Amino acid sequence: MPSLKIAVHWTRKLDKYSYSHRWIEYLSSHGIQVKKLDLKKPEVINEVRDCDGVMWHWYHIPDDKQSAPKILDAIETNLGIPVFPDHYSRWHYDEKLAQYYLLEALDAPRVKTWLFWDYEQALDFARKAEYPIVFKLSVGAASANVVKIKSFVEARLYIDKVFKKTLFPYSLNEFDFQRNLLSLSGLKSLLKRGINSIPYILNNEYPPVPEYYLLQKNYAYFQEFCDGNDHDIRITVIGDRAWGFTRANRPGDFRASGSGSVCYDTSKVPREAISTAFEITEKMHAQSMAYDFVYNNQKELVIIEVTYCFVRFAIYDAPGYWDRDLNWHEGHHYSEDAQAEDFIAMIKRSQNDVCIVNR
Ligand SMILES: Nc1ncnc2c1ncn2[C@@H]1O[C@H](COP(=O)(O)OP(=O)(O)O)[C@@H](O)[C@H]1O
Ligand SMILES: [Mg+2]
Repeated sequence: MPSLKIAVHWTRKLDKYSYSHRWIEYLSSHGIQVKKLDLKKPEVINEVRDCDGVMWHWYHIPDDKQSAPKILDAIETNLGIPVFPDHYSRWHYDEKLAQYYLLEALDAPRVKTWLFWDYEQALDFARKAEYPIVFKLSVGAASANVVKIKSFVEARLYIDKVFKKTLFPYSLNEFDFQRNLLSLSGLKSLLKRGINSIPYILNNEYPPVPEYYLLQKNYAYFQEFCDGNDHDIRITVIGDRAWGFTRANRPGDFRASGSGSVCYDTSKVPREAISTAFEITEKMHAQSMAYDFVYNNQKELVIIEVTYCFVRFAIYDAPGYWDRDLNWHEGHHYSEDAQAEDFIAMIKRSQNDVCIVNR
């Protein structure tokens, strides 16, 4: 049997967070022919026709979010070539709105969440809600777009922002415009706004949008505020392996994600979270899935969000992983190796199935 050929997304601009570096190393050292390919090239469809699989670690940045799913859909659905991440693993990536429906459909243990596409409904909910609650945007990482709301007045402010005004991600919390106004960059941006408003007024030329340009509008996403968590629990499942660690909140804050305070004390990782993560990943048919867990106010472990990709170093730094039977496997492991190993097996299985059907 000739060796498999796998296309891996590659450009000279890839940063150290990209899984491509290690995927290429792993695949090459396991007898796989690797085709390094910029999957955003116009000729991509023809370029991957002769490949047995395609791998692309795309990020939660607008340019990737508007290109990768479309390109991968064409390859996976219409060329019938296995891809990583596949549809099951990626359709809800960096979209908490999609994850709301995903976790509901899977009936996963999840934090109580309210999602409204209608202004009046959102307002009505806010009038009756018990505070505090959490308001989130659909997109974003490192807690940037996650806010604790203490009253109806505050909730209405956010509902108005997202329905009646213009709300870009990375403009809340530490990124808040007013909060940074007195810094040098704040004053510079104030000046630029003045200049940019002139062509808008005179020529309908819209001012430049922020780097994270995916405007958030016409939805409101709230969650029960789960009190008393001084950390969250991150479980990452790839096939039969689960890595687990905790992340401490920022000082004086309820938000852990992005705090940088990762703790690898395995006694702090509830085994229930590992079992749940295995179970939900199987139900989801996902190739690779990380879960953020906290305890809700009934002291149940609940999922607050999911993601197919994550910071690779955080996994490698873990002292080992658990298998499905919760046996511990000591040692540092690359999550990219696990993804590539499983992906090769998946391609072989799918080719084998085709052989059986054609026999
Ligand atoms: N409903 C909630 N109740 C209490 N804390 C929460 C809740 N949702 C999120 N958090 C905290 O905020 C952090 C960021 O939330 P998350 O939804 O994971 O957003 P991000 O996509 O930015 O990681 C979490 O790591 C957790 O510590
Ligand atoms: Mg998170």
